[in-house]
Amino acid sequence: MPGDFLPGILFYYSSLKMNKIRAAITGVGGYVPDYVLTNKELETMVDTNDEWITTRTGIKERRILKGENQGVSVMGIAAVKDMLAKTKTDPKEIDCIIFATVTADMTFPATANIVATAVGATNAFSYDMGAACSGFLYALVTGASFIQSGMYKKVVVIGGDKMSSILDYKDRTTCIIFGDGAGCVLLEPTHEDVGVMDSILKSDGSGEAYLHMKAGGSRMPASHETVDKRQHYVYQEGAAVFKFAVTNMADVSAQLAERNHLNADTITWLVPHQANKRIIDATAHRMGVTDDKVMMNIERYGNTTAGTIPLLLWDYEKRLKKGDNLILAAFGGGFTWGAIYVKWAY
Ligand code: UT7
Repeated sequence: MPGDFLPGILFYYSSLKMNKIRAAITGVGGYVPDYVLTNKELETMVDTNDEWITTRTGIKERRILKGENQGVSVMGIAAVKDMLAKTKTDPKEIDCIIFATVTADMTFPATANIVATAVGATNAFSYDMGAACSGFLYALVTGASFIQSGMYKKVVVIGGDKMSSILDYKDRTTCIIFGDGAGCVLLEPTHEDVGVMDSILKSDGSGEAYLHMKAGGSRMPASHETVDKRQHYVYQEGAAVFKFAVTNMADVSAQLAERNHLNADTITWLVPHQANKRIIDATAHRMGVTDDKVMMNIERYGNTTAGTIPLLLWDYEKRLKKGDNLILAAFGGGFTWGAIYVKWAY
């Protein structure tokens, strides 16, 4: 009789669910440099004004890492140390460190290697990951997979960029948008129904035309000519990127919410990449999420590329509660974009 099997099957599936390992975010760290570059100061550098920047982007100021020999590792190290102190984690227990960035200290070695050694994570393997503004999402899904597979117990995912190192402070269309900063999370296994629940990640290489840094890679190595032509800076066709960003970030966020049966009421927080307040508003509007549920710090930090999402979690950590439903969403160079559903674990 098939009915006789039913309780057994139900028990089997419920025990499978209980044994499923999820990757929980169990700590957050962050760092932004002290120097504040205001819209007023930018007015003295390029032909722009506070009113234009505020209304077109929502940015009032951004942080800049000043000084000689200060790479993005400086901010990554500070963010990880902050997280280790808060979570009272022994760095020797860390299995893996992934650093999402497009402004690595050097082409090689990986900045993650530099961070791992500086924080005392002597038993960890570490590497960088480049997916521009979506870098933190890509790295979070990768780190979560290491935990979910049962392979590792403590994975640190960092997102950060020193955008000031690749900005042309004579180009008013890009230099007003970006800033420097880094944040990180600690991932650990749990059998509870919390953590990284679901994700959608996308990329489309045809986006290269609209957002790139032409020189300095293997296709066009650095030369006098590339420096003279100012090709070691961010090139962006802002209006084109804007159109792709609005549509795609909202599409994946809505799709992810729908397939996880989340709606405007059950989403506790939208955690959107901080590229432009108008893109954030459009995504929130598409999902029916009200402003009070949208994490935002673009006015203080601008666009820190891979740093925006972990820096939001860092800023809002005290307001988060166990069981909160978060939708993390980003769009950026590549093009790359995606969304992750996270159920907060503490
Ligand atoms: O995070 C990675 C992905 N990146 C993004 O998601 C960025 C997406 N793009 C954007 O956020 C916006 O396109 C920008 C903020 C970059 C630009 O805003 P926009 O409303 O798209 O401006 P626009 O490029 O269409 O330019 C409008 C006007 C132009 O003047 P004309 O041709 O209308 O006379 C620009 O020259 O605004 C001018 N403009 C400025 N004026 C004052 C451009 N930049 C500035 C400026 N200050 N900084």
